[in-house]
Amino acid sequence: MKRILVTGGCGFIGSVFIRQELETYPELSIVNLDKLTYAGNLENLADLHGEPRYEFQRGDIADAGFVNELIGKGGFDAVVNFAAESHVDRSLLDSGPFVRTNIVGTQVLLDAARAAAVPRFLQVSTDEVYGSLGPTGLFTEDTPINPNSPYSASKASADLLVKSYNHSFGFPALITRCSNNYGPYQFPEKLIPLFISNALGDQPLPIYGAGTNVRDWIHVTDHCRGIDAVLRRGRLGEVYNLGGHNEKTNLEITYLLLELLDKPHSLIKYVSDRPGHDLRYAIDSTKAETELGWKPRVNFQQGLRETIDWYRGNADWVARIKSGAYLRYYEQQYGKRLHEDQAAHR
Ligand code: NAD
Ligand code: DAU
Repeated sequence: MKRILVTGGCGFIGSVFIRQELETYPELSIVNLDKLTYAGNLENLADLHGEPRYEFQRGDIADAGFVNELIGKGGFDAVVNFAAESHVDRSLLDSGPFVRTNIVGTQVLLDAARAAAVPRFLQVSTDEVYGSLGPTGLFTEDTPINPNSPYSASKASADLLVKSYNHSFGFPALITRCSNNYGPYQFPEKLIPLFISNALGDQPLPIYGAGTNVRDWIHVTDHCRGIDAVLRRGRLGEVYNLGGHNEKTNLEITYLLLELLDKPHSLIKYVSDRPGHDLRYAIDSTKAETELGWKPRVNFQQGLRETIDWYRGNADWVARIKSGAYLRYYEQQYGKRLHEDQAAHR
């Protein structure tokens, strides 16, 4: 594999994936296609500025003209689709952008990749497509999809499109479904970075409902190693679950964060529950572990400590991404070209 297109590479997971791939494969070059929504931040890959094996293209995966031209002329060995609207709470307020990016965007990418005969297409999906578990059991790849939020419904729709292209046209696609990621550079709207940044500022930590919902937490670098394994060694047409073997209630996470941050429990604030809140996610990743030799490596307490240190040391990043001021920051740091790119897309 010499040249790949990564979409959504300015987000939390995509940016880690790009950095890991370039470090691991010296012959590889990557084009990063990202719309730079509120969640996309060029600062996340500022260290790659000037790297000849890396190219940034600002654009929308749902823009068929732009995507067809990029993929048609790109000579890509693979497309890895991270680009998405990713936050459940936002999907409950307005599902429009989720349908456009997560469903239509995936369809546009599939058509362009199929027309250009791209040899591998990996759709980065989520365990949320399976719906919610009761107190026991695990999601396997054979669990029927049963999404509950507009976000997870849009991701499940995209998965079905990907599977249909594989089934109908023999299109060489793969799907990964991972559990909840944590780590540096995560937008501070998701549970862990929101609670860390709020606690650092002595602000309340809003727990939805009773805080008894369970998520299976995995470090973002482990997720990205899993995607790499599936991309290179996965069987075409297959789904691979990736999980952390690390189930925690939201209250457990909150107590642990407060302990590591040395902050009082009085910061906890119980608020109204998320509508339709899924009770529990837990992943069985036996298939990826036995077929691909992948397994998560990062110890949760250690990973969480490092994540806290990162947010403590990057309060400016948090402030800039919250205010959207990172675009001005990036232009000041790296000059005019980006400004012109951005202006063309405004
Ligand atoms: P994120 O919100 O941090 O980043 C999304 C990126 O996609 C941003 O850079 C944004 O600018 C870009 N983007 C959005 N719409 C676009 C469009 N129309 N065209 C081009 N770029 C666009 O998301 P994340 O947490 O990094 O998640 C990445 C992928 O992984 C998503 O597909 C998500 O469903 C999946 N996933 C996330 C998790 C998690 O815990 N965060 C777990 C499993 C799967
Ligand atoms: O499982 C994978 C999914 O994990 C990904 O597909 C999504 O992109 C990602 O956002 C994440 O979805 P969740 O809804 O599980 O993550 P979030 O961080 O929003 O919430 C985690 C849990 O914490 C959930 O039970 C809701 C709760 N929560 C969240 C926030 C933001 C709170 O109690 N308070 C909060 O303020």
